[in-house]
Parts: sequence; C-alpha cells; structure tokens
Amino acid sequence: MLIQIPEVLSIEELARCRAILAGADWADGRITAGTQSAKVKQNLQLPELCEASLTVRQVVLEALNRNALFLSAALPKRIFPPLFNRYEGAYNTFGNHIDNAVRVCADSGVRVRTDLSATLFFSDPDSYDGGELVIEDTYGDHAVKLAAGDMVLYPGSSLHRVVPVTRGARLASFFWIESMVRETERRRLLFEMDMAILELRETQGDIPAAVNLTGCYHNLLRMWADM
Ligand code: NI
Repeated sequence: MLIQIPEVLSIEELARCRAILAGADWADGRITAGTQSAKVKQNLQLPELCEASLTVRQVVLEALNRNALFLSAALPKRIFPPLFNRYEGAYNTFGNHIDNAVRVCADSGVRVRTDLSATLFFSDPDSYDGGELVIEDTYGDHAVKLAAGDMVLYPGSSLHRVVPVTRGARLASFFWIESMVRETERRRLLFEMDMAILELRETQGDIPAAVNLTGCYHNLLRMWADM
C-alpha cells in the first residue's frame, strides 16, 4: 500500500528547513548504507548527528505528530529519526534496493523495525528533472515525485530506487516507522476502516452505526496492536 500524505510541512516550516539544509555540510550517502545498497547508492546525505540534522529532524517529527492521516496510516510505535538526502551532480541516483529490516538510532541505540518507509519531499518538482522514487509492488512500478512538503509512505519490504536527477537538486527527508500493527494487510484494513468511519461521521453525524463501527475499529486495534 502506497499512501500519499499532502502538506506534511507548512510553507513556513519548509522554508526554514530548506534554509538550514542549504548551509549544511553534506557527506557521501554511503555512510548509512548496507553492503548491497552501498554498491548502488550514489547520493549525498547529512551526517545523522550534525546540528542541521538535529534541528530539521525536530521540525519533521513535530509535523508528523500532528498529522492525523499519517498517524492513522502508520499507527507508529517508533519513528527512526528522520535523515536527509540530496541528489545532484555526480551524486544523483540510488539503484534498486530494499531497506535494512532493522535500523539502530545513532544517538539512543534504540532499534527500529522498518515496517514502513517514508520519503518527505523538500524540493519543488519543477526545479529538477528525474529524481522519481520508483517503488515496485505486485501491481508493477509506481513512480512518485511529489510537491514540496508532501510525503509518501510505502511498505519497508518494497524494492525501490531513485531515478537519476539530470537537472537541479532533489532534497528530501527519509526515515522508517515501526508500527504498532506489524502486518501491512492488517494496517491497511484499519486505515480503510478509519477513513470510512470519518466519512460516515462527517456526512451522517454520530449515528448509532458510526459509534458501533468506531468501537469495532478500536477493538480490532486492541487485538492487533503490539506495544
Ligand atoms: Ni531505500
């Protein structure tokens, strides 16, 4: 399941993040790659614990925590502290790979199982050519290139790549989520149910059926959530 979440960052937050990232010291992206992905990874990345990373990370985490769509779709238990990458010039692509199943946070040592992968776009799509995130699933390839401030969520188990950037620069944040509901299909059912209940309540008010369904949602979550 691929979910697009619009306007995760406000225009002000986006401008602030971009200004900080513009003045930051970027490093070779292979600093966080596993041995397979290091061979196909050719991009720039901010060191995990540099000041710019820590500041922008906080902005992103605050934005995620107020985003109802994200919280419903991901049902997050732990969020790996957001990282930042840049595709430009000779560092312009990342070939096919699957993200590591478990990531260790550099500062806390906490382990995060990567149930979901996320990419939050910082650059206006018109400002660069290429740079699509291509995600493969059983329905084929999906090319994703979103407006600045928008985010895509996809299963951590997916094979994916970033197409070479041939003009301009593509700035993004990427990170992983360990979900309270590990299985993608269960998470998808809960998300669809939550969205349907929301629509029902908006159009019909809190009719008894809506109250009942809300109860069913929470009882399913109680059955499946792992804390
Ligand atoms: Ni990846």
